[in-house]
Amino acid sequence: MAGRIPQSFIDDLLARVDIVDVVDARVPLKKQGSNHVACCPFHEEKTPSFTVSPTKQFYYCFGCGAGGSALGFVMEYDRVEFVEAVETLASELGIEVPRSGGGRAGEDEGLERLYAALAAADRFYQGQLRQANEAIEYLRQRGISGATAKRFGLGYAPPGWSHLIDEANAGSLDDLLRAGLVNRNDANRTYDRFRGRVMYPIRDRRGRTIAFGGRVLDDGTPKYLNSPETPVFHKGRELYGLYEARRARRDPERLVVVEGYMDVIVLAEHGIDYAVATLGTSTGQAHAERLFSVTREIVFCFDGDEAGRQAAWRAMTHTLPVLTDGREARFLFLPEGEDPDSMVRAEGRAAFEDRLAQAKPLADFLIERLRAGIDTTSVGGRAQLASEAAPLLKTMPAGVYHDLLIDRLAAQVGLSPERLRADMTGDAGSKRAPERSEGPRRRAASGIRMTPMRTAIGLLIQNPRLAERLPDDHPALAADQPGSRLLADLRERIRATPDVTTARLIEAYRDTSEQKHLERLASWPFATDAESDRDQALAREFDDTLERLGEQVRRARRGALLEAARERTLSADEKRELQTLMSAR
Ligand code: CTP
Ligand code: MN
Repeated sequence: MAGRIPQSFIDDLLARVDIVDVVDARVPLKKQGSNHVACCPFHEEKTPSFTVSPTKQFYYCFGCGAGGSALGFVMEYDRVEFVEAVETLASELGIEVPRSGGGRAGEDEGLERLYAALAAADRFYQGQLRQANEAIEYLRQRGISGATAKRFGLGYAPPGWSHLIDEANAGSLDDLLRAGLVNRNDANRTYDRFRGRVMYPIRDRRGRTIAFGGRVLDDGTPKYLNSPETPVFHKGRELYGLYEARRARRDPERLVVVEGYMDVIVLAEHGIDYAVATLGTSTGQAHAERLFSVTREIVFCFDGDEAGRQAAWRAMTHTLPVLTDGREARFLFLPEGEDPDSMVRAEGRAAFEDRLAQAKPLADFLIERLRAGIDTTSVGGRAQLASEAAPLLKTMPAGVYHDLLIDRLAAQVGLSPERLRADMTGDAGSKRAPERSEGPRRRAASGIRMTPMRTAIGLLIQNPRLAERLPDDHPALAADQPGSRLLADLRERIRATPDVTTARLIEAYRDTSEQKHLERLASWPFATDAESDRDQALAREFDDTLERLGEQVRRARRGALLEAARERTLSADEKRELQTLMSAR
């Protein structure tokens, strides 16, 4: 794979391809109204809820929430990575994929060379393993079969200081240094970072090797050595084994998070092929977010000792902010002295999966742990419990999980849920009026709440032509509200490419943090879709939404100015602004 595919080509490809043909060739479609439908290929169903829209060039399933462009469909259905999906579509259209050999910016070229160096090192280590009896024997003793070793690309870095530089054909010394494969010492000498170690390649979501972990064969130290952070490897984001788990199952029902490389591999050896490990760090929010983009349930697996409980607590605090409806996190504590590796070898797959099935729900763990050491029969104790819970609950998104935790805590402290909620948000006295103008809040199967901002973005991405109704000076575009930047950015893109489709817009956000979010909004079932005079209904709904959004922004701004006025003297401009805001309503 040489060079990167220019974004303009991908955009062009999506402009030329027809998603109806692409899907129909794989899953025969039936025409129904302006859409085409079929039984969803991504989940079991008897009546079709899988829909392909020729105007949006987008597919979505009302049953399971899958959705995306023609490219996304090929990736999911053919189970291929992005580049291969692009090649597939291009060849179906009979066009060639251009490669910008060096990439548009020097930056890209540099990254390509890092990936190439890492891939070459990977091949080198895997080749060395075949000749290293000692390492083969080590893996055999740990119960790893040849097939599993191959699946995880295990390798061996032989002892010696300059194999990579001399033999691996892995690029320039500079590339090797930047890839973290070669070190430089104080005397300016360079040498292989990994020596005499079993090598575990760490792969990104596309399967590219981006780093390594290496383990000594005996009890030398350090037991594990990992790649340093490099431009392609950020250990706070990556999860060992996630790529392999996704290859094994498209939609894993749950993912298990363990602590070590060996735990992941030995579990897979026993058929539990949905385990991943953080890389010597605790589970952060970026990890949790990534895991939940693949599955609905995470089971964290920790040692049963106090260190394990503390690690579990940290993982929990990072999971709360991403615990939207439909997601669940649970905690499994193993008996002291055991890790998943020793456990599954001792009791086998079924018993281990029983443990997983009985793991403690996050809510139970949170409450138990908060209660520990607090006397909840005393008034002071109950107040303490509520005040310790408050900062945690504040990090959570609104939704049924949040409500459930409030209910459970309220029962613990003997308050009504309403009272506890008011105490925790700190506005017990000045109860905020319910947001009158927002109308009934709708929830999708996926559980997100449709705020005016989300509605505006959703309507816009589904119906790009609505952009012309969004004026330059709409206050939401410049506000520092969640979504403002995205809204402005979308509007720009649509103005730049007037007949852009939903699918092409989505593709422009691939691999960004907005992608999932936009996909969800792109398949949001707006009621207007069903109305007979659709265009008019849409325009009306969009205008209403902009109105509500504007009101919301103005209200927030008014609040901020009033707040500021209490602490300092407002500038003349601010005073004028506030006056306008106050008189508007
Ligand atoms: N780790 C590390 N550096 C070390 C020790 C551990 O980075 N010096 C990380 C590794 O990611 C390792 C994980 O912490 O996989 C768990 O460490 P440990 O429990 O010691 O390793 P195990 O996976 O149990 O190792 P093994 O079974 O191979 O002895
Ligand atoms: Mn172990």
